Amino acid sequence: MTEPACSTPSNLEPTLSVYDAIRRRRDVRAEFTGVLVPQEVLDRILGAGHCAPSVGNTQPWDFVVVRKPETLDVFAEHVADARRRFAESLPEDRRATFDPIKIEGIRESGMGIVVTYDRSRGGEHILGRHTVDDTGLFSAVLAIQNLWLAAAAENVGVGWVSFYDEPYLTELLRIPEPVRPIAWLCVGEVAEFQQVPDLERFGWRGRRPLADAVHLEKF
Ligand SMILES: Cc1cc2nc3c(=O)[nH]c(=O)nc-3n(C[C@H](O)[C@H](O)[C@H](O)COP(=O)(O)O)c2cc1C
Repeated sequence: MTEPACSTPSNLEPTLSVYDAIRRRRDVRAEFTGVLVPQEVLDRILGAGHCAPSVGNTQPWDFVVVRKPETLDVFAEHVADARRRFAESLPEDRRATFDPIKIEGIRESGMGIVVTYDRSRGGEHILGRHTVDDTGLFSAVLAIQNLWLAAAAENVGVGWVSFYDEPYLTELLRIPEPVRPIAWLCVGEVAEFQQVPDLERFGWRGRRPLADAVHLEKF
C-alpha cells in the first residue's frame, strides 16, 4: 500500500473537478457490476479518506476492508432483517413507497469498507473537542465523504448502509472497545451512476431547494 500524499502536489494531474465529482457522486445500490475495484484504485480512494481534516488532527478513523463472501453474506442477512423491521414500522402508504427501494448492494459490490471511529485516539486533551464532543465523530464522517468523492472521480460506486445493529457489526468484525463502526460502505465498479438519487426516483423524498437551506444573519 502506497502512502497517500496529503500535501499539495507540485504538478496537479488533469482530472475531474471537485464540482464534477460532487455532481456525479450517488449512493449506489443497484448498479454494481460485481467487478472488484483494482488494488491501486482502492489505495487511492482510501488515501483520499485518510487525507480528511480532523479535530486536533486526531485522525480517529480506521478502514476495515471486507471481501470474504461468507462475511458479506452473513452481514447481508442481518441487514435484510433490519430492513424488515423498518418496513413493519411504517404506515401503509409509506410502506408501499418503501417496498421497491433497494437499500444495499452488499453482495453485488463484492466489497465492504467499514469505517470506524475511535474516540480515544489522541488521548485526553484533544485540541478543539473540549467544547463540542461530536467533532470527533464529524471528523470520521469527513473521511467518508473524501472517500466517497474520490470514488466518484474514479468511476467507482459507493453505497452507505446503516441498516444494522451496531453491537452486531462490532462483534462480526472483532472491533475492539471503544472503537465504533460508523458506516458499512459497499464499494465496487458500477455500470453507471444514476442522475437522480434513488429515494427521489422512487418518491420517498426529494432534495429541498438551496434557498430553503440558506439563512441570512439569523436562522
Ligand atoms: C449517514 C447515511 C446513512 C445512509 N444509510 C443508507 C442505507 O442504509 N441504505 C441506503 O440505501 N442508503 C443510505 N444512505 C444514502 C442516502 O439514502 C442517500 O445519500 C440520499 O438518498 C441521497 O442520494 P445520493 O447520495 O445518491 O445523492 C445513507 C446516507 C447517509 C449519509
